[in-house]
Amino acid sequence: MIIGIPCEISSSESRIALVPDVVIKLIKLKIDVLVESNAGLKAGYTNDAFLKVGARIVKTKFDLLRKSNIICMINGGIFFKSMLNNIKIAPGLISVSSIEQFTDISLIRKIANYKITSFSMDMIPRISRAQSMDVLSSQANLAGYKAVILASNRINKIMPMFMTAAGTIPPAKVLILGAGVAGLQAIATAKRLGSVVYAYDVRSEVKEQVESLGAKFVNINIEESGEGIGGYAKELSIDSQALQRKRLGKFSQSMDIIISTAQIPGKKAPRLLNIDSIQKMKYGSIIVDLAAGSGGNIEGSKPGKEVMVNDALIIGPTNLASELAYNASSMYAQNVFSFLELILNKGNVNIDLNNEIIKQSIVTQNGKVINKFFFDN
Ligand code: NAI
Repeated sequence: MIIGIPCEISSSESRIALVPDVVIKLIKLKIDVLVESNAGLKAGYTNDAFLKVGARIVKTKFDLLRKSNIICMINGGIFFKSMLNNIKIAPGLISVSSIEQFTDISLIRKIANYKITSFSMDMIPRISRAQSMDVLSSQANLAGYKAVILASNRINKIMPMFMTAAGTIPPAKVLILGAGVAGLQAIATAKRLGSVVYAYDVRSEVKEQVESLGAKFVNINIEESGEGIGGYAKELSIDSQALQRKRLGKFSQSMDIIISTAQIPGKKAPRLLNIDSIQKMKYGSIIVDLAAGSGGNIEGSKPGKEVMVNDALIIGPTNLASELAYNASSMYAQNVFSFLELILNKGNVNIDLNNEIIKQSIVTQNGKVINKFFFDN
């Protein structure tokens, strides 16, 4: 059994899917590991570090794909889009990566036509026994942290209260919109920096978690419940959405920093603040919209761009985990290892479609697209 780790295709991706600490565990299971030369460099993992734990380095993707039974990547969609026309792939290749759920279905069909068995790490169900494989949580956690660091770096104020001989400086006020995995980490980070933190989520059940981190839960009194299934949020009615924007808009005007993280699985991100509310914000306010890449919580945010709206700056990062590539790769790699343990039995591939985790994360097999998500969307 040979597992290959190619360089990520996108120049804006710094992570790598497996790191030396995890490679060593695979090698102990008598699995060979091939790494494309310098694939880990941007994340801080050198060829030497991989060689030291027993991996082999190959020069090109072509060598890697020719020899590997399984390839592990971060962005599978981008990889196959760029590679499928240029390379001969042996039928039966297994790919373990994240395939964005909004990937063009024609690409997914193409992956199937090449007889690749593909899994998408971000479609693994969020059930307790799959927690160790949950890349959405591991990467969102880091993104929530980095969003606060980014905002605190850009604002022209300090975060904590300072009591000095030169006067008392009040702490910065931070509002976190959406208190899921990223939001809770953003709350914890903003608190650690000493700011006063407010948080809002449409699921009232998170109020307790918000308060246990020392933030104030913002109650905007919308009667409709936003609780969906499986611990996720559901889309609110048009009227409730409008009311939500109006009340959040009013609250946000006294904030120094807003970090928005709200998502609804399989749908466009909910719009939480209108441009007219942003226009009324204080001079120098910073907004980080972590949902910018999936439709945006903040009107006016642009994926991967910074936009000034009157006196406020809106930042729309799309891959903050990649900016913490060392830790993000290490966490992603642990998630991949746990998943590999599930599909490998004594070094042989064993894909049990009755296993809920496998059933939900498999995308293509035997020349067919078999994931229900891609038929329904
Ligand atoms: P997510 O990324 O889908 O959404 C982020 C947050 O946005 C959620 O808290 C959601 O309620 C909130 N949101 C959605 N629409 C909103 C709106 N209109 N206004 C304000 N907030 C809105 O969710 P994430 O962070 O991936 O996880 C959410 C929940 O999933 C967790 O809190 C937990 O209950 C569950 N979960 C369970 C896991 C497990 O058991 N293994 C692992 C991870 C998450």
